[in-house]
Amino acid sequence: MAKTIQEIIAMKEAGSRISMLTAYDAGMARLMADCGVDMFLVGDSLGMVVLGYDSTVPVTMDDMIHHASAVRRGAPDSFIVGDMPFGSYQTGLRDSVKNGIRFVKEAGCDAVKLEGGKAVADTVAELVRSGISVMGHLGLTPQTASQLGGYKVQGKDLESASTMLEDALALQEAGAFSLVLECVPSELAAIISQSLTIPTIGIGAGADCDGQVLVVNDMLGMFEKFIPKFVKQYQQLAPMIREGVKQYVSEVRDGSFPASEQGFSVDTDYSTLQK
Ligand code: KIV
Repeated sequence: MAKTIQEIIAMKEAGSRISMLTAYDAGMARLMADCGVDMFLVGDSLGMVVLGYDSTVPVTMDDMIHHASAVRRGAPDSFIVGDMPFGSYQTGLRDSVKNGIRFVKEAGCDAVKLEGGKAVADTVAELVRSGISVMGHLGLTPQTASQLGGYKVQGKDLESASTMLEDALALQEAGAFSLVLECVPSELAAIISQSLTIPTIGIGAGADCDGQVLVVNDMLGMFEKFIPKFVKQYQQLAPMIREGVKQYVSEVRDGSFPASEQGFSVDTDYSTLQK
């Protein structure tokens, strides 16, 4: 059974670290659901990792619903967070709720995630009032990376660190049940985590967050375009995939695939069909 919001918050209280990974399709979700992952995030990283865009900005609601539904089919008993793409919550409370409801009703998500601090606190509160659980996202917020001066560590000076702490408290006050901290100095992430009753989920934010998230294609070594400093590669699948595909191509060319064991043979005498 999928965890409940209360169980996720209780994990922080009990000091049990929360594991989250991104997922984008049913096949991978099915494999990962066997491994005890506490939460899946259908991240808008979909845009870069799966859809081949250079950023998360072009990702649409329809893209997200399509992939989140697939993840739900692959992991029917897991807790799934749908990432609200750029443009789905910036145009007003009504649009935000409408899109949040799509994640829950059409894709079967348990919660949604959106980026930003105080500026989105009203949106978070309205979603929660509408019955949609919300995860916040502070630090490096990729949808607005250009405003932040690029994909950089956030909260390095005292002023921006203090703003991030205020943002975190505002999101908690608005009803968010947890919070992603992306590319934040470990010491600041530790202070934010201690200041909140809701769990923080770090990505490039050190070991003192209440949980961790990684993009699954990064941690399995499948996405080679760019490897962020905070990624640990638990496997290196890209060379294995290339090796398997090269071997297939070579065996098709030399006729060694398919062998008789990959074919179907029956007793029917087909010789009369020959012209
Ligand atoms: O889109 C995503 O995958 C994310 C994670 C990196 C937190 O937002």
